[in-house]
Amino acid sequence: MGKSFAVIGDPIDHSLSPNIHSAAFRELNLDASYIAYRIPVGELEEGVEGLKKIKIDGFNITIPHKVEMMKYLNKMDESCSLIGAVNTVTNKDGILKGYNTDMDGFLEPFKKKKLIIENKKVLLLGAGGAARAIVAGFAKEKAKSITIANRTLQNAMNLSEFAKKIGLDANAMKIEDVKESSKDYDIIVNATSVGLKNEPSVISLEGINEKTIVYDIVYMPMNTDFIKKAKAKNAVIIFGYEMLLGQAVRAFEIWHGMEAPYNAMKKALLGGF
Ligand code: ATR
Repeated sequence: MGKSFAVIGDPIDHSLSPNIHSAAFRELNLDASYIAYRIPVGELEEGVEGLKKIKIDGFNITIPHKVEMMKYLNKMDESCSLIGAVNTVTNKDGILKGYNTDMDGFLEPFKKKKLIIENKKVLLLGAGGAARAIVAGFAKEKAKSITIANRTLQNAMNLSEFAKKIGLDANAMKIEDVKESSKDYDIIVNATSVGLKNEPSVISLEGINEKTIVYDIVYMPMNTDFIKKAKAKNAVIIFGYEMLLGQAVRAFEIWHGMEAPYNAMKKALLGGF
């Protein structure tokens, strides 16, 4: 029997994960399928029971279930316990094991483009769920320091405490206090949701230069105002779709134990825009 996979969340109808994984199955002639399954808030437990009943081989989890899903896991990979959220699950005879591939997904474009993080000064905008996986990535790659700037200072302070705990030199500030100081950083990441609705970027990027790495994790639209401002300064750009692709590649490798067909998955993802 073929293997079956899913992504769960709400909303889920615009998820690009079914396209990305189905393209990988086609490319490698794997007998497998991948569907999007809407599970509303408050119905996660029944939803997961349902997935176990149909003997799903694995699934991805997206908003709003990434943290609550931890309760229903039997085992946890270190990536999952460290970040405190789960986005990928394997099911072996009813034993659910959780992973978080967002951190590796975030780091993947740096590796592909041979961009070094070690000893670099980082400005991270945002302090939500995605930002936490990103902080773990910067700790793993030994960034020199990280400044976390957020609309709500308390959330930035909490994330900064986590960053310190895992070995980073970290500090927190309010986003409006960043102002023109963008020139002080080698890497600037937007991990807020600002840009999704075509809003102006949260900082100006006036002080950056062509060596600054500017990374927007918003992937839809691809050319956010933040990305446009970075392009105007000829900065090194990493698009949000690259992180999305990176986390899918890592999930594929966990589920199938083989190298993912990166180019076929990328083509499917970009075709979905
Ligand atoms: P995700 O899982 O994508 O990280 P999240 O956990 O809801 O989503 O986090 C959203 C991030 O975007 C937070 O840092 C949030 O700031 P607050 O902590 O102050 O809520 C930030 N954000 C959302 N809307 C924003 C806005 N209009 N201006 C600035 N920051 C915003």
